[in-house]
Amino acid sequence: MAVISVEHLSYQYKDGTLALNDISLTISKNSKVAILGPNGAGKTTLLLHLNGIFTPQKGKVEILGRTIDKSSQKWVRNKVGFVFQDPDDQVFSPTVWEDVAFGPRNMGIAGEELEKRVSTALKVAGISEIAQKSPFNLSYGQKKKVAIAGILAMETEIIILDEPVTFLDPQGKKDLFSLLDQLQHSGKTIIIATHDINLAAEWAEKIIIIKEGKLLTQGDTSLLANKKLMEEANLALPIVSEIFSDYIDEAQPLPTTIKEAQEIIKRWLKK
Ligand SMILES: Nc1ncnc2c1ncn2[C@@H]1O[C@H](COP(=O)(O)OP(=O)(O)OP(=O)(O)O)[C@@H](O)[C@H]1O
Ligand SMILES: [Mg+2]
Repeated sequence: MAVISVEHLSYQYKDGTLALNDISLTISKNSKVAILGPNGAGKTTLLLHLNGIFTPQKGKVEILGRTIDKSSQKWVRNKVGFVFQDPDDQVFSPTVWEDVAFGPRNMGIAGEELEKRVSTALKVAGISEIAQKSPFNLSYGQKKKVAIAGILAMETEIIILDEPVTFLDPQGKKDLFSLLDQLQHSGKTIIIATHDINLAAEWAEKIIIIKEGKLLTQGDTSLLANKKLMEEANLALPIVSEIFSDYIDEAQPLPTTIKEAQEIIKRWLKK
């Protein structure tokens, strides 16, 4: 079942930049999706259409079966959580605790339920110990975690993260992705925009590649091992694919994940 459907979506900024040019795609329920593309490709502009921050100028966006327009803008914000690319666009309350409480409070959650949601979100984001600090005095990585916790506390069905790993240290990155996997196991749909091709290869089930506002292609992670396509998209191959490209017959598929690479090495060692 598709939870998101985008049909012939175009979007032009006021200065005339055509940021999205006739994009159509669908995202199924409970999937893990990575949107890739070079700087300025239109990733953020597309994502801003998926939780009603932008409404379509041309074309159609449907979320959970409902068309997004001015009348459904408020509704969709409670269905789709959005972690902004820049945490400074999202974090603004006097304390971290208040900041994380902002989203669920706006949804009408109060009292014990609010306390519970905030403390759980702080805990899973690994920031309980800074709950009383001012978000303005935090490091960028910490601010990003506050923004993520705020979205978790809303418990939305769909979660979008625009460049989630920017500013996160290796442990923070690992923790975030095990958290995203847990959320997926609990039935949520997760969409990220990222420049981290290795991470997309390891984590995603579906890849969407955009360039210059157009959909270049969508499919599974094997797309990432397609040299010609990656060059066309101004993207690099995942490191494992790059390493194996010199040693594997062109007719054979290249590995995209560490696990696939290890399987190939094991087979070679057995020979
Ligand atoms: N507020 C704005 N006014 C005018 N043009 C804009 C605005 N925001 C974005 N753009 C332009 O729209 C295009 C798409 O930008 P967008 O931010 O969606 O790209 P992106 O794929 O998210 O890039 P990045 O990888 O750098 O985050 C770019 O050409 C950008 O310059
Ligand atoms: Mg962006």
